[in-house]
Amino acid sequence: LFGEWRLNSSGLNLADPEQLESVQQSLDALADKHWTAMPLINGSPSSGKERLIVNPYDNRLTVGSVVFAEPAAIDEALNEASQAFTDWRLCPVAQRAGYLKQAADLLELHRLELVSLCIREGGRTIKDALAEVREAVDFCRYYAQSAVDLFGEPVRLPGPTGEENRLYHYGRGVYVCISPWNFPIAIFIGQIAAALAAGNTVIAKPASQTALTAMRCIRLLHQAGIPESVLQFLPVGGSVFGQQLLPDPRVAGVVFTGSTSTAQFINLQLAQHHQAIVPLIAETGGQNVLIADSSALLEQLVQDAMVSAFNSAGQRCSALRVLFVQEDIADKTIAMLIGAMQELTVGNPGVYQTDIGPIIDHAALTPLTAHLSVMQEQAQLLYQLPLPDGLEQGSFFPPSLIELRSLSQLTQEVFGPVLHVVRYRESELDQVIAAVNATGYGLTLGIHSRIDAVVNTIRQGVKVGNIYVNRNMIGAVVGVQPFGGTGLSGTGPKAGGPDYLRRFVIEQTVATNT
Ligand code: SER
Repeated sequence: LFGEWRLNSSGLNLADPEQLESVQQSLDALADKHWTAMPLINGSPSSGKERLIVNPYDNRLTVGSVVFAEPAAIDEALNEASQAFTDWRLCPVAQRAGYLKQAADLLELHRLELVSLCIREGGRTIKDALAEVREAVDFCRYYAQSAVDLFGEPVRLPGPTGEENRLYHYGRGVYVCISPWNFPIAIFIGQIAAALAAGNTVIAKPASQTALTAMRCIRLLHQAGIPESVLQFLPVGGSVFGQQLLPDPRVAGVVFTGSTSTAQFINLQLAQHHQAIVPLIAETGGQNVLIADSSALLEQLVQDAMVSAFNSAGQRCSALRVLFVQEDIADKTIAMLIGAMQELTVGNPGVYQTDIGPIIDHAALTPLTAHLSVMQEQAQLLYQLPLPDGLEQGSFFPPSLIELRSLSQLTQEVFGPVLHVVRYRESELDQVIAAVNATGYGLTLGIHSRIDAVVNTIRQGVKVGNIYVNRNMIGAVVGVQPFGGTGLSGTGPKAGGPDYLRRFVIEQTVATNT
């Protein structure tokens, strides 16, 4: 499948001083630029209530302002997107794919601008921001090729002599793409690219925290040739979104990445539609576990656990939350983890050496602080890295290591740089697997073991979407590790995988008596 899909985007090599310098120069050049985002209806800005967006690294620094769509603009966007669907539905697949390939090239061309913006607005580190652009480029090229391979020609089906049977694929209609702040480029563009490639028109609703990055991406997608009527941009507030956008009968499908509770809310809203059963594709959270037995290579285990738990300040749905470590190696592993945590650099995400940037905003700090105080009473705080001076104006949370007695002590996803450890005995592996399944989540899972039988027992026992053996468990690569979970973690299908686009289309069987 996907014969034309050859290479993932190469990105930049930051070990090369010249390339790193080019990033630094672009960050400096754009450091004071004031960005704006607003609803774009057929490409034209629309007015509404405005909100300032501040830099999460230092809340005194303004990055720009976002205008939220008024009810009339939402109605107009839905109208225009519905009308545009009539032509877009019949637009040749190769043409749609051509726009996306052009978009991929433009994203690469404007890489440094996007990186700078998403560092300032989203608090992403330089490495994370660059990886996001790469992933977005990959999504565009992969879904473009995927659409051509899957839907380029009707599928010829068997039949008796004198009868011709064909299976056609069409877009469903207006897809609402709702994306999160933690991947303001990659997931924002990935959802849109998939919906468009499959022949849908799109209403793109960005996370309000990262609407500026999203707006820049939309302009590039339009510049690539995607008609402005086909791709509408709607920053909207939470209440309007729930009351007006989701219940609207013109909405034919929703793709969402974010919290489990919001996915459940969207599902309820869509269930109220009387004229259609509207599908939801949801990718949500995880209670992600890494299981390490005594055959694990400790240096590698610690390195992989650190990356998985603390990269992006733990603000990834794939991030490691709970390390199950076999009793025999637990003390040593914990000591090594603490040693590795002491080496972490927390600070300005626009500085290359920074490992951990800020939490997205102050509101997101509140549940982390609350979790820590509960854990101080009910569990054991093993270590907390002191925050360096000078970060008081930002929304930073100290990387923390907590020992739990059992996984059931965690009642919800802790979306930040907090790693929990649980000890287990060799004889308790089945209980560990049962505990993982009992969370109801099923997104990522890591295994560190050199014993095939252990790896296979865990792999076959857990209901989890992405399993990583003897490596870290974040950063799924498009076309290489299709990504997505099950249960409370999402509906499937997997982003960046061969079946993703199939869920965005309707099938039409045509049987003709020739
Ligand atoms: N796909 C991302 C990862 O693998 C999370 O959304 O880390």
